[in-house]
Amino acid sequence: MTLSDWAPLHRWPAEAIWQAVVPRLPGFSIEILPEIDSTNTELMRRAKAGRHDPILLVAERQTAGRGRQGRIWMGEPGDALTFSIGLPFQPSHWSGLSLAVGLSLAESLGTDIQLKWPNDLWRQQRKLGGILIEAASQGTQSYAVIGVGLNIQKPAAHELRTPAAAIAEFWQGATAPLVLERVAAPLCTALLAFESEGFASLQSRFNARDALLGSQVSTSDGQQGLCRGVDERGALQLLTPHGLIKVSSAEVSVRPAEGA
Ligand code: BTN
Repeated sequence: MTLSDWAPLHRWPAEAIWQAVVPRLPGFSIEILPEIDSTNTELMRRAKAGRHDPILLVAERQTAGRGRQGRIWMGEPGDALTFSIGLPFQPSHWSGLSLAVGLSLAESLGTDIQLKWPNDLWRQQRKLGGILIEAASQGTQSYAVIGVGLNIQKPAAHELRTPAAAIAEFWQGATAPLVLERVAAPLCTALLAFESEGFASLQSRFNARDALLGSQVSTSDGQQGLCRGVDERGALQLLTPHGLIKVSSAEVSVRPAEGA
């Protein structure tokens, strides 16, 4: 596609978001692209080339969207909001970052949005969206790329591993630009708060929305237990026959146990 072929699918509220964010994040810019392989891949490429400015990159369509653990993230234009925020980031601990991001999104979207440790937004036991966090470092400087995919409309069933929820189910007239306008500035604020304060002050708010709290779960590395919420670093606590264990690796995924 050449640039002259491109008619944007939407009008995006870039100016309003920029006005809200730039006082707290000097040098912040917003870029809306008709199509890219993946907004995360693009910001990681730029970071590796030394481009470390804070940016919100939105794509109307991704041709190679990525999920956690090497999975594909599908999403048709208009059916999903897909964006990444890149920013220089120096927290004292990174643990709990994806939980802080999920919590900010959930709190922007509504009281019945739940969080499934470590990276998913859920509603009524179905997946509403996901988060993919990556980091690049150069010397002592680190740069975080926070990718977010939210279902606006329900994706086609054949694309799914997990049953899907959509924002349009509870927000009539929701569009990708309206959802971006609601979530983007609070998310930037949450990232800056996490950088200076970490996860501990968010623990109880996360646990209040924990979709798995009190249920029997199994982890992809073969452990089973009763989910007891997260600790002050964001590690998932499971009560097993051998005692309380803490799961902190982002490479582990958690599901309700069979028959639970
Ligand atoms: C997951 O559910 O496993 C995480 C999904 C993250 C998808 C978003 S869409 C915008 C950004 N770019 C990507 O390639 N992935 C993230």
